[in-house]
Amino acid sequence: MDTLGNLIVSSPNIKYTDDFIYSDYEYKDTLVTRNGNDLVAKPYQSSLQIRTGRRIGKVGVMLVGWGGNNGSTFTAAVLANRHQLSWNTRNGKLDSNWFGSITQASTVRLGLDEKGNDVFVGMSQVLPMVHPDDLVIDGWDISPLNLAESMVRAKVIEYDLQMKLKKEMSAMKPRPAIYDPDFIAANQADRATNLIRGTRYEQYLQIRADIKDFRDENDLDKVIVLWTANTERFCEVKPGVHDSDVNLEKALRANDPEISPSTIFALAAIDEGCCYINGSPQNTLVAGVVERAEKRGVFVAGDDFKSGQTKLKSVLVDFLVSAGLKPVSIVSYNHLGNNDGKNLSAPKQFRSKEITKSNVVDDMVESNRILYAQGEKPDHVVVIKYVPYVGDSKRAMDEYTSEILLHGTNTIVVHNTCEDSLLAVPLILDLVVLAELFARVSFRRQATDEWSGMHAVLSPLAYLLKAPLVPPGTPVVNALFKQRACIDNILRACLALPPATHMQLEHKVP
Ligand code: NAI
Repeated sequence: MDTLGNLIVSSPNIKYTDDFIYSDYEYKDTLVTRNGNDLVAKPYQSSLQIRTGRRIGKVGVMLVGWGGNNGSTFTAAVLANRHQLSWNTRNGKLDSNWFGSITQASTVRLGLDEKGNDVFVGMSQVLPMVHPDDLVIDGWDISPLNLAESMVRAKVIEYDLQMKLKKEMSAMKPRPAIYDPDFIAANQADRATNLIRGTRYEQYLQIRADIKDFRDENDLDKVIVLWTANTERFCEVKPGVHDSDVNLEKALRANDPEISPSTIFALAAIDEGCCYINGSPQNTLVAGVVERAEKRGVFVAGDDFKSGQTKLKSVLVDFLVSAGLKPVSIVSYNHLGNNDGKNLSAPKQFRSKEITKSNVVDDMVESNRILYAQGEKPDHVVVIKYVPYVGDSKRAMDEYTSEILLHGTNTIVVHNTCEDSLLAVPLILDLVVLAELFARVSFRRQATDEWSGMHAVLSPLAYLLKAPLVPPGTPVVNALFKQRACIDNILRACLALPPATHMQLEHKVP
């Protein structure tokens, strides 16, 4: 890969100033209408101006559940990379990296060179993005352990690296958090001693004060709040409580018991002007939260990191269905022994995970009426078991059975073993980096219009999320490569570059 200083686009459709990159972009798609039994496909295009801020400023991340496996591993990974640490293992000396992060460790095809060869650049070179070394980290946890103690408890980081990080991480202490035993498993009670007391409204005010304190203390331009705490049960969505911004505010002040801790965090973050990302399955981002984010012009994104089994599923099922094969049974078993697994061993919390894991093939199935009748779906079962001995090393076993030619069957079995947090942490980084970038991107249709940001529900982050939240009434895309193409092509649009088509007609047309 080329190591680039700057990427400069040479086009009449782009303009650079000290503060912004301006792109004139023609967005093209095809409108399909029905005419009797016929389908009429009509290409259309719309002109957009896209403006990307070039000044990143100082960015802070606040993790809810900072002392958990993901929170402590994220912190360790940022520090290990920032200090370019190496550590000894029985396999020799190893160096820090950001493998698993699309922004830091994956490339985007930019175009081709004069000889017709593809040219790739790192995703973070395409547009100005915050560097992970520059992130300031803080957060909350119901457990009082400092980050060095949390890292030891998590048993994810190699011992020698733990020793190198211990001093710095022992000075990091999670802020007290909101604990509601009705929302997470009873088996978490023994670690819940670092708590904000009071009513829900008082807790909300304290979270806002914490964000403000962190921002002021570190002179930050932007703070992103991300939930990587335990999976909660779904809140029971009630009309008059969760359905609008106004009702949610009233219910918060009335201390309504169906307002979950994660929803309180979301409201506080939004009201402090911070993007809020939900890395767990629960339904934090109820209609009232989304409405408030829209009003305040900040992003929300969710739900649930798409790290391992589901990521593979959203590739495999896409491959099978687009190959004209018909998956008819998908059975997924997991066992894991970390605290996430312990929490998920309680039925209501498992149910939250089961829901986000279950809908991930719907868009692929619905895209193919040749294979599936209207409403027909494969049998899809998800099982999760808590097996303490395996710790953070999660096992995922999947069986995909498909109908093939003339009703033959094909069964694919996948066994996946991986440190859960080492998969999730790069996703946390990408969510933060991309959310920060998209907050600097705005659009308008014509020069006389006001600039406006992307929709408050930040669906381009879907690649990183198991059950992507999308703006009301818009289709959900789970297929991984479509999600990835969405990110790549939005980045390209910001530079007035056409979408990547992979046609490579240069090599095909004489
Ligand atoms: P963990 O159990 O090690 O960490 C969660 C932390 O949250 C704990 O330290 C706990 O004390 C804290 N906590 C619980 N309730 C809290 C509250 N109300 N406020 C503040 N802190 C609170 O779990 P892990 O492995 O770090 O996973 C975190 C979340 O990410 C889980 O919900 C999990 O389902 C989700 N997730 C993880 C993936 C992965 O690790 N590969 C993939 C997808 C989702």
